Amino acid sequence: MNRIDGKIAIVTGGGSGIGEATSESLAASGGRIVVTDVDEEAAIHTVDIIRQRGGEAIALHQDVTDEGRWAEVIETTVSTYGRPSVLVNNAGISGVGQDNIEESTFEQWRAIMNINLDAVYLGCKHAIGQMKAEGGSIVNISSIMGIVAGAGPAYNASKGGVRLLSKSLAVYCGNQGYNIRVNSVHPGFIWTPMVRRIAETSEEVSTEDELYESLLLRHPIGRLGVAEDIAKGVTFLASDDSSFITGSELVIDGGYTAV
Ligand SMILES: NC(=O)c1ccc[n+]([C@@H]2O[C@H](COP(=O)([O-])OP(=O)(O)OC[C@H]3O[C@@H](n4cnc5c(N)ncnc54)[C@H](O)[C@@H]3O)[C@@H](O)[C@H]2O)c1
Repeated sequence: MNRIDGKIAIVTGGGSGIGEATSESLAASGGRIVVTDVDEEAAIHTVDIIRQRGGEAIALHQDVTDEGRWAEVIETTVSTYGRPSVLVNNAGISGVGQDNIEESTFEQWRAIMNINLDAVYLGCKHAIGQMKAEGGSIVNISSIMGIVAGAGPAYNASKGGVRLLSKSLAVYCGNQGYNIRVNSVHPGFIWTPMVRRIAETSEEVSTEDELYESLLLRHPIGRLGVAEDIAKGVTFLASDDSSFITGSELVIDGGYTAV
């Protein structure tokens, strides 16, 4: 189940948290992985782990907001492994400390939209051009904050945008006769560096333990997520086991949005 043998996958933000776990899961499932990150050292670390486990991967430096770099990343993927058939648009930043629209700046709004939404558009645009000949699966990491409010206007808007961008492209690819599926994934709070950093700026909690306990209350399942919970869902969507799933949203949130 969920094997992706022979598939070539690009994972953005693959140096940390969900991107790292996803890169490792896809490699363990038989894929050859191009791990990209603006933090090149982090991407190399993920690739080292994959290789130690007998998997195949390369690391590339990439700022996902740079359109020219997208073209280069795809080109290097093709020349190293061949045509990519999986893209995971995972790189993102949080909107912590930007809940108050009246005190926020347009620059702060643009920075979040640029990485969390504009870059997903760029990745999809370039990947579809490559994938349309032989098909593929694009998985865009949105959030529960793309479904319900609670993370500040820019983060909510960016992740809501990813949700509908994915549906729009799923319909486009279908109408064009491309065998490309596009889906979004909506994690609840996952105990990654991005979430742990909330403790540093929060006015409500002062330690990571307090943060964990406060977030726990919102997850009926009784724990926060770990990156592997999301990686498993992404691997399913990347695999042919999900071949009838497109334009869909996979919520992996321990019941957060069920309340
Ligand atoms: N952790 C959560 O609770 C949670 C919940 C819902 C959604 N998400 C989403 O999941 C994704 C991954 O989050 P995470 O928790 O693993 O975060 P993380 O901070 O642990 O990892 C994010 C990675 O993205 C990279 N990155 C940041 N900006 C980049 C850029 N411009 N170009 C390329 N790479 C860049 C970082 O260097 C880092 O390696 C994000 O899109 C985030 O919004 C996370």
